[in-house]
Amino acid sequence: MPKPEQIRMAVVGLGYVGLPLAVAFGRRWPTLGFDVNLARINELERHHDHTLEVTRSALQEATWLRFSADAGRLRDCNVYVVTVPTPIDAYKRPDLRPLEAASRTVGEVLSHGDVVIYESTVYPGATEEVCVPILERESGLVFNRDFHVGYSPERINPGDREHRLETITKVTSGSTAEAADFIDALYASIVGAGTHKASSIRVAEGAKVIENIQRDVNIALVNELALLFDRLGLDTQEVLAAAGTKWNFLPFRPGLVGGHCIGVDPYYLTHKAQQVGFHTDVILAGRRTNDGMGQHVARRVVRLIQKHDGHPPSCRVLVLGLSFKENCPDLRNTRVVDIVQELGEYGIGVDVHDPWVDPVQARQEYGLELVDAPGPAGYDAVVLAVAHHQFVAMGASGLRAFGKPGTPLFDVKGVLPGTEVDGRL
Ligand SMILES: NC(=O)c1ccc[n+]([C@@H]2O[C@H](COP(=O)([O-])OP(=O)(O)OC[C@H]3O[C@@H](n4cnc5c(N)ncnc54)[C@H](O)[C@@H]3O)[C@@H](O)[C@H]2O)c1
Repeated sequence: MPKPEQIRMAVVGLGYVGLPLAVAFGRRWPTLGFDVNLARINELERHHDHTLEVTRSALQEATWLRFSADAGRLRDCNVYVVTVPTPIDAYKRPDLRPLEAASRTVGEVLSHGDVVIYESTVYPGATEEVCVPILERESGLVFNRDFHVGYSPERINPGDREHRLETITKVTSGSTAEAADFIDALYASIVGAGTHKASSIRVAEGAKVIENIQRDVNIALVNELALLFDRLGLDTQEVLAAAGTKWNFLPFRPGLVGGHCIGVDPYYLTHKAQQVGFHTDVILAGRRTNDGMGQHVARRVVRLIQKHDGHPPSCRVLVLGLSFKENCPDLRNTRVVDIVQELGEYGIGVDVHDPWVDPVQARQEYGLELVDAPGPAGYDAVVLAVAHHQFVAMGASGLRAFGKPGTPLFDVKGVLPGTEVDGRL
């Protein structure tokens, strides 16, 4: 394994996870940030990060950091950190193609003594069963003799200024005790919050995926309660506020579950479970409930419109927010599109406004034309779908002003006072 003074880092995949990591390593070690997307490399070389995770000054301060889309440049590195996407396919099965491609790229440049660390979220076993054979095949080297591997899951939360790479305990692991020590010390050098050295790569892989599953299932429970309480004529937020006064009642809230992690990662573990003939009833039931929430919101909005004597096919609804979470431009797997689609099923014309989102991306990924500046008094219902700070600051009266007089306001996120909205989850 490289001695500290010999370390030359490479970060493969410069997205939400890879870029902050490359910047942190690049303050401490010579670091090459590699990405197959040349446009991404070009913007980073201009010290611009469209994900808004890393500031211009932070990019300028990472003096040891270089960027390249040329895989040949990776040859000079000896510690590789892989941070490429791990999505699911149309059948909700793990799509390991980016991880396999990145492993091929690294395998081609791997040398004796090198270390490869995976950060992408996977299922227990993926690193050693899928990635290591590719590294061996491409490099002609022998695992745990010529090179070592580790897994250190990422826990950052896009848009969150408090929980950053440096302030979240980093779980680390390695393919041998020596590799685990090396990898743990490497992360300890950049993560102020410290590290937790797991006993194996599979333990570290399992830890990451269950963090997101735990959130998914807990949100699903609250979402199921929201569906029930709607039928019972109860306000879910009021029930949760009352129950939350008990010391051990967990503060989960109902809502849409989108994004690249929580709505996706459970399928990685359920896939692995299927391989060993185990049925993950609770996890998959949670997924089903959470995936149905957009449709539920749309139907409740339709009911509100009808209550206000509106005729859905001749109505227009304004949906505020498209990104999968507040104060961030990330559109991946946003479930707001389910609301838009279901409203469309009723013949309702829907305008979507989101000041955080790149309109070109919205068009390319979802075929949606964002409305840049919705006019006043033009809509038959207003749906606050994402609690961007701009929307919350407008308050219920500001949001209602987009609608015609008496227009219903639905607050998906439950951020406005219950007495000031017509419906919420
Ligand atoms: N975004 C999050 O909040 C978050 C949090 C924790 C863990 N994760 C996990 O981290 C991993 C990366 O997620 P992300 O959000 O950074 O993804 P992302 O889509 O933002 O970035 C991935 C980057 O990898 C690049 N890439 C794809 N294939 C490549 C290849 N073969 N070689 C080099 N570069 C390649 C892409 O061009 C892109 O720039 C995923 O497994 C994700 O589940 C994400």
